[in-house]
This record gives sequence, C-alpha cells and structure tokens, in this order.
Amino acid sequence: MNNIQNSDKRILFIASENIGKIKEFTQLFPKDIFDIISQPKTIKINETGRTFSENARLKATEVANFTNQWAFADDSGLSVNALNGAPGIYSARYARNDDERIARLLKELSLVQDRRAIFTSALCLAAPAGKVLIQVEGICKGLITKEKKGKMGFGYDPIFQVLGTSLTYAEMNPVQKQKLSHRGVAFSLFLQKLDVLLSSNQFMS
Ligand code: IMP
Repeated sequence: MNNIQNSDKRILFIASENIGKIKEFTQLFPKDIFDIISQPKTIKINETGRTFSENARLKATEVANFTNQWAFADDSGLSVNALNGAPGIYSARYARNDDERIARLLKELSLVQDRRAIFTSALCLAAPAGKVLIQVEGICKGLITKEKKGKMGFGYDPIFQVLGTSLTYAEMNPVQKQKLSHRGVAFSLFLQKLDVLLSSNQFMS
C-alpha cells in the first residue's frame, strides 16, 4: 500500500446502517488512509437498482453527494440456481430475520436436487460530490445444504457450503471465510484498485 502521510487522511463514510458490516470494513481498510465513519442516520436510501452493482453505486454516490466526503458501499446477496437467481438483490428482504430467511429458502428447496448457488458482493467507492472511482464485484460459488451446519458468521452462512470444500461459511473461522468469500474476493480486487488510485491525481485532488 502507498505511503500516505497522516495529514493526507480522508474521511470515508461507509454507506450502511449494518453495524456488522461497518465493523468488518473498518478492519479491512488501511488505517493510514481513511478515517472511517458510518453513514449519517438522516440519509435513507431506497435500493432501487436491478443488480448488486447498481445498488452499491446508488448507495455510495448518494452518501458522497449528501456528505461531500468519500463514500464506500457494498451490496451483497445469495442467488440460487433453481430459484432463477432468487433471493438475489432481495436477500435481506426475503423474510423478517436470518432464521426465517433460512427456513424459507430450505422449504423452497425441499424437493429440489439442484442446490447450486452464488454469493455476490459488489463494492463501490465514490469521491466527494459522487463521482464513482472504484467499482468491483466478487463471487463465491457453493451449494445450499439440506440443514444448518456451523455456528459462526451471520445471515445465510449456516446453509452455504463453499464449492470445493465440505464446509459452510458458518463452519469457517473469520480468516478462512475472508479468504474464500464473495466479500473477501471483492475486497482484495478493491484494494488493488485503491492502490492504483492512491498514486493518481484523483485521490490527491
Ligand atoms: P445487504 O447487502 O445489506 O442488502 O444484505 C444482503 C443479504 O445477504 C443479507 O440478508 C445478508 O445477511 C446476506 N449476506 C450478505 N453477505 C453474507 C455473508 O457473507 N453470509 C451470509 N449472508 C450474507
């Protein structure tokens, strides 16, 4: 990562109200470059995009516009083959809470042989005033298990078994999950692009 002096630090709003995500991203971002702050509570963003990337872009640009500071957003979810990609961008709205979301998915797949699914994470960084400077997507392929396995993580973790392993996300420790997960893949692509951006005029301006 580039050597940035303390005086060059920028405020970066994380466009999310999800405390888990804010914590996760605060740990991932290089601390010498950004002071990370969560999105002001007064901003309510309607996720009207048709794709994960569109939603991430929408959130990052709206928060950057509103605050006139750098803004970072992610949008993620689970797309199931046999359900034509559902719940997809509606993963968070599929039921009232994680247990109910999992129960609904397992019920809908109860008679289904094809268990293939993909987790996607779209990340977006917008400069003050809303110009998008980085946009990436990471995926992780897997299978929906027949029942919950593992206790770690959150969301759909206990029923998502990573392809090529015998483990669900919920059976992986945070380091293992980070290496293989959709968010881990997206974030490492993001950091490569951030490194290029840091040496460019666009960051210093
Ligand atoms: P959003 O990106 O905040 O709109 O939420 C996406 C939905 O996908 C939520 O229901 C999350 O619980 C779920 N989700 C996103 N990433 C993961 C993950 O790494 N594991 C399990 N569930 C996830």
